[in-house]
Amino acid sequence: MTQLFEEIPFVKNPQYERIIEDVLAQQYCLVEDFFTPEEVSVLRQSLIQKHKEDTFKKAAIGNRVNEIIIKSIRGDVILWMDELKANEAELLFFNKINSLVYYLNKTCFLGITYKEFHYALYPKGTFYKRHIDTFKNDDRRKLSIVCYLNEDGWLPENGGELVLYLEPNGKEEEKVIYPFPGRVVIFESQIIEHEVKPVNTERMSITGWLKTR
Ligand code: OGA
Ligand code: MN
Repeated sequence: MTQLFEEIPFVKNPQYERIIEDVLAQQYCLVEDFFTPEEVSVLRQSLIQKHKEDTFKKAAIGNRVNEIIIKSIRGDVILWMDELKANEAELLFFNKINSLVYYLNKTCFLGITYKEFHYALYPKGTFYKRHIDTFKNDDRRKLSIVCYLNEDGWLPENGGELVLYLEPNGKEEEKVIYPFPGRVVIFESQIIEHEVKPVNTERMSITGWLKTR
């Protein structure tokens, strides 16, 4: 008998497996080396180049239908990334993200059909007050992904730590995450409240969301 359809072998990826396990167990996952130092460096250069070209905009609160800039809530500047016009660094970035999305969809029935990512730069003295990443009129964001692009040797006294407000046993617990280069934080957009503490040194990242229809 001939087999009409050949099974594509599915190879388990330990890093992705851990992301799934952690998110299921604690609603977030911290990956120390999602990007190699070389990858962080080319992504940082891309961010710096685009920022020099003056393409970044003050970040807004709420979605694009409802844009109000409130400096007392967040002070970062952002630039949305366009995968169709990606440069070499961004291609590398989206390849990694797409591979993760493919894996999640294959194993978790999350049904991620859409993604959006932006560069973010927090000038000295800025912050992002405690918030949640979904909007009242739009709950399609499922997973938030933050990728830190700071220089090597980022110190705790540089500030800018991400604080996740968790509730493991109904009691609030703070998880403090320093934005060390190469680190990626993934968390459930609809559940986890979080904030970025004031930064004392310019802080660079790419932040984005995996969304359903
Ligand atoms: C955001 C955000 C966290 C961070 O952009 O919504 O919460 O650590 N970012 O940059
Ligand atoms: Mn957020």
